[in-house]
Amino acid sequence: MAKLKMSSTLLSVSILLVSLAAISSPSAHPAYDDDGTVSCGLVDAAPKAGPARREVYGEGGRIIDITHFYREDMPFGEWGRVGLGQFLWLRMSMANGSLYNFSELKLPAHAGTHVDAPGHMFKDYFDAGFDIDSLDLDVLNGPALLVDVPRDKNITAEVMESLHIPRGVRRVLFRTLNTDKKLMWKKEFDTSFVGFMKDGAQWLVDNTDIKLVGIDYLSVAAFDDLISPHLVFHESREIILVEALKLENVDAGIYSLHCLPLRLRGAEGSPIRCILIK
Ligand SMILES: *[C@@H]1O[C@H](CO)[C@@H](O)[C@H](O)[C@H]1NC(C)=O
Ligand SMILES: *[C@@H]1O[C@H](CO)[C@@H](O)[C@H](O)[C@H]1NC(C)=O
Ligand SMILES: *[C@@H]1O[C@H](CO)[C@@H](O)[C@H](O)[C@H]1NC(C)=O
Repeated sequence: MAKLKMSSTLLSVSILLVSLAAISSPSAHPAYDDDGTVSCGLVDAAPKAGPARREVYGEGGRIIDITHFYREDMPFGEWGRVGLGQFLWLRMSMANGSLYNFSELKLPAHAGTHVDAPGHMFKDYFDAGFDIDSLDLDVLNGPALLVDVPRDKNITAEVMESLHIPRGVRRVLFRTLNTDKKLMWKKEFDTSFVGFMKDGAQWLVDNTDIKLVGIDYLSVAAFDDLISPHLVFHESREIILVEALKLENVDAGIYSLHCLPLRLRGAEGSPIRCILIK
C-alpha cells in the first residue's frame, strides 16, 4: 500500500472507508456473467483482458470461494436504492498523470457477503462495544456443515427440526431457494427471499450448538420478520451471522470454513471473505 497522507475527513466519514492501492476501476475488470452462471473453475478471460477470475483454487478445487465479489449491480436492501451502486473510485490515476493508480473504496457495512455483530440490533450491545472487532475468530474458522433447506418454506422451527443437525455442530451454512433463484445476481432487492422466522431462530438456539449461521442472501431473517430472528440470534452474543454467502456449485457436506472480517472497531457490520476448504 502506497504511503500517502490522507485527510482526516476522508478517514472519519462513513461506516467503512478503505483505500487500496493499485486497484483499477471496476469497468477494467473482465466480464463475468451477470446471472452467475459462470461460477465454477476458471472464468474465461483472454490474456489481454486481464487475469482469470476463479471460484475455486488448488488441486482438485480444494479451496472454494464462497464470497460474492462486489459489483455495482449487486442487490442492496435499502429503500430508494436499486443495486449497490458505485463503491470504488480512482482517486489518483496514471491516466491523469499520477505516478500510480490509487483507489478509494466506500461500502455500506452490510453490503455483499458480510457479517453482523451483536450491536447490529441491540443498542446496549452496540454502546458496550460488541462490534466486529469483538467477534471470535475461533467461531469464524473451523469445521462447518453446508445443508440444503427445504425449498418450499422459510426457516421455521419445523424446518430446523427436519434438518436433524447433530449436537456438536458449531457452524452451519444454510443453502436455500435464494441460491436456486440466483437472488444475489439480481440488482433488485427481492423481499421474498428465504430466511429464518423467529421460531426457527429460537429452535436453533434452544436445540443446537450452532454458533455460526451462514445464509445465501442479505439477511438471515425473512423479510416479513426482519428483526426478531436477529434479536434471538444476537441475544447471547455468542452466535455470529454471516450473510449473502455464495453457496452455488458446492456439494452439501462438511468443510473447513474460514471467514475473516475486516478489523472494524465501532462497526456492527463488515465485509467478510469466506472460503471453504475440502
Ligand atoms: C482525471 O482528470 C479529469 C479532468 O480533471 C477528471 O474529470 C477525472 O475525474 C480524473 N480521473 C481520475 C480517475 O482521477
Ligand atoms: C491506472 O488507471 C488507468 C485508468 O485511469 C488505467 O488505464 C491503467 O491501466 C491503470 N494502470 C495500472 C498500472 O493499473
Ligand atoms: C419466505 O418469506 C417471504 C416473506 O418474508 C415470502 O415472500 C416468501 O414467499 C417465503 N418463501 C417461502 C419459500 O415460503
